[in-house]
Amino acid sequence: MVLSNNILLEKCGVIMIIYNLIVPTYSGPNNLHLSDGTSPAEIIHGDLFFEITEPIELEYTYRIRPAKDFGAPFNESFYIQNIPLVPIDPKFGCKPPNNLDDIEGNIAFIERGECSFKKKTIIAEKAGARAVIITDISKENEDYFIEMIDDESEEDANIPAAFLMGKNGFMISKTLERLNRNFAIINLPINLTYTPIHKINQPPWLGW
Ligand SMILES: *[C@@H]1O[C@H](CO)[C@@H](O)[C@H](O)[C@H]1NC(C)=O
Ligand SMILES: *[C@@H]1O[C@H](CO)[C@@H](O)[C@H](O)[C@H]1NC(C)=O
Repeated sequence: MVLSNNILLEKCGVIMIIYNLIVPTYSGPNNLHLSDGTSPAEIIHGDLFFEITEPIELEYTYRIRPAKDFGAPFNESFYIQNIPLVPIDPKFGCKPPNNLDDIEGNIAFIERGECSFKKKTIIAEKAGARAVIITDISKENEDYFIEMIDDESEEDANIPAAFLMGKNGFMISKTLERLNRNFAIINLPINLTYTPIHKINQPPWLGW
């Protein structure tokens, strides 16, 4: 589907994980991730997890989906521990941030809208961010993973970018606001190789 900012987007079904049972709730057109008959491992393939260790209200494990075809990969060299996740100001991250000092060396948390995913990533990179996590907290998209694809602009993004489901984005953003904190502390990625799916510490507001 083509949205106003001229990026092609594909909506993928959010995967509900209940005791190893995978139930896709929505499968859009051009859906690259087949939901039927695939194993949990295949569906999760490519997605990553990070955990928030502070504040305690947000101490859960969150799934993110790396950008499809722009930015640096989340490869073996990318491993961060106890690093601030900082909501960028202004929140859409389409212009150089007011909180440059907080973004530098950290992970930028950005809302979808106003400019392309890649542009946000490039702006955060210039501000010194190590990676970006982008979310769409609007009501109609809060349950979906959105594939972030290249906008075909010339400039390249050289840091990793990933998409966080809106429900999680909303809770992270609102909780930080409520606590008057301008960052959370995260570990990314976390290795869940030997963690059974139902043992993953998913946020309770997802209702899983
Ligand atoms: C990981 O990706 C970065 C950025 O593309 C690259 O510089 C680095 O060499 C890669 N590391 C590995 C182990 O592949
Ligand atoms: C995850 O942990 C397991 C067990 O410690 C290890 O064998 C595996 O290589 C790790 N995976 C990554 C991507 O670090």
